[in-house]
Amino acid sequence: MARAKKVVLAYSGGVDTSVCIPYLINEWGVEEVITFAADLGQGDELEPIRLKALAAGASQSLVGDLVEPFIEGFAFPAIRANALYQGRYPLSTALARPLIAERLVAIAREVGADGVAHGCTGKGNDQVRFDVAIGALAPDLTVLTPAREWGMSREETIAYGECHGIPSPVSKGSPYSIDLNLLGRSIEAGPLEDPDVEPPEEVYALTVAVDQAPDAPETVTIGFERGNPVSLDGERLDPVSLVRRANALAGRHGFGRLDMVEDRVVGIKSREIYETPGLLLLIRAHQELESLTVSADVLRTKRQLEMQWADLVYQGLWFGALKDAIDGFMDRSQQTVNGSVRMKLHKGNATAVGRSSATDSLYVPDMATYGAEDRFDHRAAEGFIYVWGLPTRLSAAVRRRGG
Ligand code: ARG
Repeated sequence: MARAKKVVLAYSGGVDTSVCIPYLINEWGVEEVITFAADLGQGDELEPIRLKALAAGASQSLVGDLVEPFIEGFAFPAIRANALYQGRYPLSTALARPLIAERLVAIAREVGADGVAHGCTGKGNDQVRFDVAIGALAPDLTVLTPAREWGMSREETIAYGECHGIPSPVSKGSPYSIDLNLLGRSIEAGPLEDPDVEPPEEVYALTVAVDQAPDAPETVTIGFERGNPVSLDGERLDPVSLVRRANALAGRHGFGRLDMVEDRVVGIKSREIYETPGLLLLIRAHQELESLTVSADVLRTKRQLEMQWADLVYQGLWFGALKDAIDGFMDRSQQTVNGSVRMKLHKGNATAVGRSSATDSLYVPDMATYGAEDRFDHRAAEGFIYVWGLPTRLSAAVRRRGG
């Protein structure tokens, strides 16, 4: 009995997802495999990928441009949430998964499929993100995961593909596993599997090494409205162009590299290299504007929720109730995040050197100043400190007596 008759497969053009096509048909009795390849701004040519799926036996090969919804609906919420998994990784790969899952389900509905499939292995995070998202959006669809079950080694997978007209990868060269989209690159495997080995320069493609970065610093003014980046140096840009420019700018100054050991959902630690120049620059600028325009108590709570938001997205719970509830808080907190931040890029660093908000700055000069314009009532501090310190003085006195 076939697990499903008609299946929509998430397709990248790589060996694994290509082999999924004949595997689903020949081993699992699927009658029709329809592939979907997403354009997430990775810069790949999609036409060869589309043809490759047909050559591998797909009955239909679809491609879709998801760049705009990716940036507006996934990257910008992450910027508003200053989302950094384990305090560092800005989720460039993770954010794309719920969007791809959404499209897979929509296509399955359009073509009347009873299953969707992906080529993720059984030890990564992406399988979790796809499976949970699809289960939430379309519980009636069967999720087929050949690469999780076939138990073939890399060599066996390539050999299986060759038997079914899938050419083995031309350049045996790269030992790396790379995920790529407009937000950045994630690189693992090969020599990177030893966390004690410095990444070779060849793993990087979007950022230059610090010693190759220009000697002269460059300053950019990033404008925000309700927490969304809307302009660079006063020029209003659509979200996709803005991220592209931020990538180029930060990348040529060597900013945005990350070398980390992270904790996967499935419990293992893994070493990954990231380059996410634009996204990290925008998050840093966004945090800076919040420090000017969001009140201290909201900010304190938001910093805690940001960590939770990043965990939820990393762990595949994009469509969960907690994520939805936190989004409500995030949206509300961003009403005052209007203004601009000046960032200086230099030799691998991005430093805020100015911030302003014509409408929402909570910075009150005659409260902050040490000059003659000072309107802060210094004498009021005494009564405040008397009350503020009371519990501490009392408990310290008791401890002193008790010895
Ligand atoms: N570890 C990252 C994540 O879980 C990226 C995974 C994909 N990386 C890769 N090199 N294929 O979001």
